[in-house]
Amino acid sequence: MVEIKSPTFKISNSLLENIQEVYSNEFACSLEKDKSLAEAISRTHEFYIQNPEAESPWQEQWFQKAYLAYYLPLNHLRAKGVLHRIKNLKAFKDTECIFEWGSGNGAFSLAALEYNDSLSFQFVEKGKQAIAQHKLLQRDIKDSFKKKATDFHRSKDSGGDLLSFCYSLTESESLPSFVFDFDQILILEPSTNQDGRRLMGYREELIEEGYDVLAPCTHQHTCPLLKDSKKDWCHDTFFVEYPDYLKNIESKIPMRLSNLSVSYLYVSKDYKNPNQGKLRVTGNTLKERGKVRQMVCRSDEREFLTWFPKRQDVPFIGRGELVELAEGFSKKSNEIRGEIQEIK
Ligand SMILES: C[S@@+](CC[C@H](N)C(=O)[O-])C[C@H]1O[C@@H](n2cnc3c(N)ncnc32)[C@H](O)[C@@H]1O
Repeated sequence: MVEIKSPTFKISNSLLENIQEVYSNEFACSLEKDKSLAEAISRTHEFYIQNPEAESPWQEQWFQKAYLAYYLPLNHLRAKGVLHRIKNLKAFKDTECIFEWGSGNGAFSLAALEYNDSLSFQFVEKGKQAIAQHKLLQRDIKDSFKKKATDFHRSKDSGGDLLSFCYSLTESESLPSFVFDFDQILILEPSTNQDGRRLMGYREELIEEGYDVLAPCTHQHTCPLLKDSKKDWCHDTFFVEYPDYLKNIESKIPMRLSNLSVSYLYVSKDYKNPNQGKLRVTGNTLKERGKVRQMVCRSDEREFLTWFPKRQDVPFIGRGELVELAEGFSKKSNEIRGEIQEIK
């Protein structure tokens, strides 16, 4: 039986130790013992619910604590999941410098370094305390901060430049115009109806501007969720292992420590999508009378891989994985029937 499992992501021991050290130096209390941490995380969560588009209140100590101990690790794990999806694409392999806008305290760049430790970075971030934490967590970035995106220093041969946004466009109403100066753009956004659907709209805008979508899509057609649904949004979900200090306060915060979802988009003007036409599994396994279905995406049509357990083995395929159809498949209505094979 075909079994294609998605990996589990965790915070590296060295990053965990750095977070613990920065926390105790900044707040004169260890992460594990700080009784105000759960309250700080709950307050930040409430802040984001009440003010979804507001500026991050980096000047507040409760926000600094919550971001370092909770939001940085979670966004870092989401970034690791997304980078795992794109790590084999030539565009990402050729990347030399990442220009990150709204870098916070480093969730994304710390993840990118784990996939390519020769990357260099330039950042734009308006939270002074965010920059201070980031400098303590990531070595050799003292001079990497710019006041605004137009100050980014691009090399003449800008082919290896990647512009990235990790949960930072959510504070803007539209795509800033400087994005179009970059050949490669990677955007991570919260997996919510509003942010996810806005990102699907940006996808259309970027295609019109001449970009090729490299991931997560395997096609350049209109997104079927944008075309045929008013409420669905494209997202990926990753299995993660949480640090013990978070597991220990889970009962005191409003959120459960479960799988992490994220909506993302990777586009390029120079590179073409090598996975064009392959199937990306976008749904969980649905058991129905006499058959098992799993939603896939490869065009502007909503389709389902469909198996009949009485006469064939039903494969296990993790959400977000790419597969190809073996010879001899058939199509009936929106159902694709036949064998699949994993893409290595
Ligand atoms: C939700 S946080 C995300 C931080 C980080 N990228 C992460 O994934 O954890 C959004 C960040 O964007 C920054 N930001 C928002 N608007 C900005 C602007 N106009 N210039 C620079 N930074 C900005 C905020 O200060 C904040 O740190």
